[in-house]
Amino acid sequence: MNISKSAAWNSLQLHNKEIASLSMRQLFADDPARSERFSLQAAGIMLDYSKNRITDATRTLLMDLARTAEVEEKRERMFGGDPINITEKRAVLHTALRRPSGYKLVVDGIDVSAEVADVLDQMKSFCDRVVSGNWTGYTGKRIADVVNIGIGGSDLGPYMVTEALKPFAHGAIRAHFVSNIDGTHITETLKALDPETSLFIIASKTFTTQETLTNALSARKWFLGHAGDERHIARHFAAVSTNREKVAEFGIDLSNMFRFWDWVGGRYSLWSSIGLSIALFLGFDRFSELLAGGCAMDQHFLLAPLEENIPVIMAMLGVWYNNFFQTASHAVIPYDQYLHRFPAYLQQLDMESNGKRVDCSGNIVDYATGPVIWGEPGTNSQHAFFQLLHQSPAFIPADFILPLKSLNPLGEHHDMLVANCFAQTEALMKGKSAEEARRELESAGYDAASIAMLAPHKVFPGNRPTNTLVLDELNPFTLGSLIALYEHKVFVQGVVWQINSFDQWGVELGKQLAKAILPELQGSLDVTGHDSSTNALINRYRKSRQKPD
Ligand code: F6P
Repeated sequence: MNISKSAAWNSLQLHNKEIASLSMRQLFADDPARSERFSLQAAGIMLDYSKNRITDATRTLLMDLARTAEVEEKRERMFGGDPINITEKRAVLHTALRRPSGYKLVVDGIDVSAEVADVLDQMKSFCDRVVSGNWTGYTGKRIADVVNIGIGGSDLGPYMVTEALKPFAHGAIRAHFVSNIDGTHITETLKALDPETSLFIIASKTFTTQETLTNALSARKWFLGHAGDERHIARHFAAVSTNREKVAEFGIDLSNMFRFWDWVGGRYSLWSSIGLSIALFLGFDRFSELLAGGCAMDQHFLLAPLEENIPVIMAMLGVWYNNFFQTASHAVIPYDQYLHRFPAYLQQLDMESNGKRVDCSGNIVDYATGPVIWGEPGTNSQHAFFQLLHQSPAFIPADFILPLKSLNPLGEHHDMLVANCFAQTEALMKGKSAEEARRELESAGYDAASIAMLAPHKVFPGNRPTNTLVLDELNPFTLGSLIALYEHKVFVQGVVWQINSFDQWGVELGKQLAKAILPELQGSLDVTGHDSSTNALINRYRKSRQKPD
């Protein structure tokens, strides 16, 4: 079945024509209960989706499409451990990582829940030892800095979470993240560190990733440059991976290895031992609260009817705009400085999952799949790209994320932040008509010629959709819930688009070509085997590399 040929898709196409002329301003004026009717609450999060270009009929049709795509059946298959990642023949079980103890899941005869519990125990005892100062460095000093060396899913999630939950940290350990192959990243990080009190976590699912292994080797060299003896490595290097052989080959003591499993996708792995840096920074109890928040959202996603299901509603609104209004882009604006890495984290989660052009049967799809995800915290973003959100011919749907309570109450700051958040979604929805713009200029005393000239520039078309996600407070539980919400949103969209959201073949070609180019950059011969542009760029670099400083 091709989803774009389904009756449900066709009905949405017809419905889209009716909706095109409807203004949200009018919908709000006609229905004082609109906000109530288009709001949901679950797992510490309130979603107000009333500022969308939808009616009750739209919601019904979108849910018909979700049912046509078999979202409920596929959701069961994911949670049950079926190998839904068909190109890699793997189950997708990140949800099993955040189930409470006592829950049992057996897949292919293996007690997955028992394995998860074992690794959590290992993480807990390691964290307790390091945080209490029981675990010391090679000179007997306690660990003060943890450096996570990893990239993609082995970096973005833990980095985002440690930034978001800074106020919940116990304060005994600082966390650092090194990801980029650019030597600047590790060099600048090491500058601030003392080898006697630093612990490196080499985080890589495959333990073959060029960036991570290169950075890990540089860290090892730096450490040995101070510590001298290789036997000290065991007190300062730990590994998180699914690949025991490669960890051993690298020279990390296997008793310092924390495993996870091939059924945890890299971008879904912060809940696994990849979250070790989070647990060390916050303490294991806080890490458990993060897991509990994720689990609470899982329960909501599993049990709530589609019409009342926050991830499903958000996913289907995304489908509505992406496939029926051709928006192609989606902004995420957290009104919380602690969430400054959240859009970057979401970019991998969403774009590596749903940036695909063939369906699960290998056919090229004839509809748009994952949108471009981007964003920055408010209010900074208001002074950067909001001009385009308000007045460009294109419209870009956006999620606004706001904790009600400030973790740093300071004068009027939080009231101002909140006022800006609410004002922006109101402005995007209402806009400002030509008549309103003219009246405003008149009352400001402009003459007729100036009004005629200025008014078109002052018009805001409005009717621009936003979701507002409200958290009572940003804390480990609500952050866990928020992350799981977006994971499930991405899952539902992948199901509707009939793609495999859990592989990432699109990252391979560049990696292969970089492997071929590296020795050419270092060689003494002129390179001629590529296109003329690539040849010239390589040769230019080779020449600059050969020049003495
Ligand atoms: O290049 C993409 C990718 O494979 C991501 O999917 C993954 O999160 C990242 O690289 C890091 O991979 P690893 O954890 O195996 O080092």
